[in-house]
Amino acid sequence: MPYENILVEKKMPIGYITINRPKVLNALNVKTVLELVAAFEEMANDDDVRVVILTGSGEKSFVAGADIKEFQNLSPDGARQYAMRGQKLLNLIERLGKPVIAAINGYALGGGCEIAMACTIRIASENARIGQPEVGLGLIPGYGGTQRLPRLVGKGRAYEMILTGQHIDAARAEQIGLVNKVVPQASLKEECEKIAKAIAKQAPLAIRYCLEAVDRGLNGSLDDGLALEADLFGLVFGSEDVKEGVSAFLEKRKPGFKGK
Ligand code: CAA
Repeated sequence: MPYENILVEKKMPIGYITINRPKVLNALNVKTVLELVAAFEEMANDDDVRVVILTGSGEKSFVAGADIKEFQNLSPDGARQYAMRGQKLLNLIERLGKPVIAAINGYALGGGCEIAMACTIRIASENARIGQPEVGLGLIPGYGGTQRLPRLVGKGRAYEMILTGQHIDAARAEQIGLVNKVVPQASLKEECEKIAKAIAKQAPLAIRYCLEAVDRGLNGSLDDGLALEADLFGLVFGSEDVKEGVSAFLEKRKPGFKGK
């Protein structure tokens, strides 16, 4: 499918999605959100793609938020639909069944911070600036910022960012656990690929079940999460890969996983 606002590439086992509106610092308009839904669905349905790397075009911005021009004349119901459309995309990313690495190559503001938080792992370049500046526009985060940010960094730090609207730099983002690692911009892609390749060596079903256990577990009680983990632990023992992984260890050889 041809896309106008995003670039999609596959170099197996990695799928690359790049938001490509550099003139507006990769702001997310509705068309871009819809294209991202289609591209992520395509990645989800391609078994050869084991990890997706999401980034923004250029060296200045990952995503500078929702496209503010679209907020003019938005009705309350239109705004609600707008938020739900974005949330649907972010839920798709979070529950893709394969890891998504956000390569944060600059500004990640508002919807940009939010889409990064829906990703599995976040790696930032040294020039990254991250924030939820919505209150300065008279609005509130609408793509999950009030929910995912406190879950990631704790309530107090999330409140500080959401209520002051101030950006934090990459070093502070790493300090509070908002990003996993900060690297020079020149090595951002390579660092993300290194992690992607390490994940792609592991058993695909096990990866999928780990994602499900953590994501669904964090949304419920510890008891429910532990029950889910035990169920998935049982389920994975029906796979060929568990036999292969255990045999390979005992035979002192590398496993050849098939995702079955
Ligand atoms: N929407 C639309 N256009 C945007 C944009 C956005 N979010 N962010 C930047 N742009 C545009 C600018 O209007 C400008 O366009 P023109 O050249 O036509 O004037 C261009 O991108 C370059 O931006 P600046 O000239 O402002 O660049 P800068 O280096 O001076 O500043 C910045 C960079 C600090 C990121 C600044 O652009 C900025 O503050 N952007 C808005 C950030 C923001 O408020 N994001 C939250 C949006 S609301 C949201 O995301 C809600 C939600 O939860 C879904």
